[in-house]
Amino acid sequence: MRRPIVAGNWKMNGTQSEAAALIDGILAGLDTITNAEVVVCPPFTLIAMVAKALNSSSVGYGAQNLNVHDVGAYTGEVSGPMLRDLGCTYVIVGHSERRALYGESDDIVAEKFRAAQQHGLVPILCVGETLEQREKGQTEKVIATQLEAVVDTVGIEGFSEAVIAYEPIWAIGTGMTATPQQAQEVHRFIREKLSGLDSTISANLRLQYGGSVKEANARGLFDQPDIDGGLIGGASLQADEFLNICRAA
Ligand code: PGA
Repeated sequence: MRRPIVAGNWKMNGTQSEAAALIDGILAGLDTITNAEVVVCPPFTLIAMVAKALNSSSVGYGAQNLNVHDVGAYTGEVSGPMLRDLGCTYVIVGHSERRALYGESDDIVAEKFRAAQQHGLVPILCVGETLEQREKGQTEKVIATQLEAVVDTVGIEGFSEAVIAYEPIWAIGTGMTATPQQAQEVHRFIREKLSGLDSTISANLRLQYGGSVKEANARGLFDQPDIDGGLIGGASLQADEFLNICRAA
């Protein structure tokens, strides 16, 4: 059985006091979440204080990005060993905002996936199509290409310690969620594609949906057979809303 995983992607939001209040709120409701694994991914500046505030609770934490290099002259960057040093378990790689705004190609994303695993971090690999690609019927082709870049770099074995988040770009931060059926179709496609390479790894792999998930639409999405939780942006910044999404998983 795959245990659902709900991860909050805080993006570039939060001061220390806001983060402390949010973590307090999450911890206050944690005992009502019986099924899902709960994870938060704050900005780099907040990871150390979030780690401390979580105080060995069951909530996991991670980062939103990493550099492919371990150390060196890369001004403004943060590496896998630094994230491990902070106790991170997870790191998001290939978020569509990184791909679109910071020019991360499929190959760079694959290298980041590899770098994460080299340092014992579990990558949450984001894949997804634009509205234009969907309308042109290219959704599966785009996602296949994004997955193949990673498989070519780390092999299918790399997916035995990873999470994939399907995030249709047109649904991120827009309030336009994929319907449960639209999301399930793509999740099934991802699982079947990887199953062709290793059916056990594929059957055990957790596939999150992301893109305007809210308490109101979470259950319909999470009820789908190939959707194992969510990657939550905006709605992860409100403790009550985030907890309700976690409960739906
Ligand atoms: P959203 O973001 O929930 O605000 O749409 C999801 C994401 O980008 O991970």
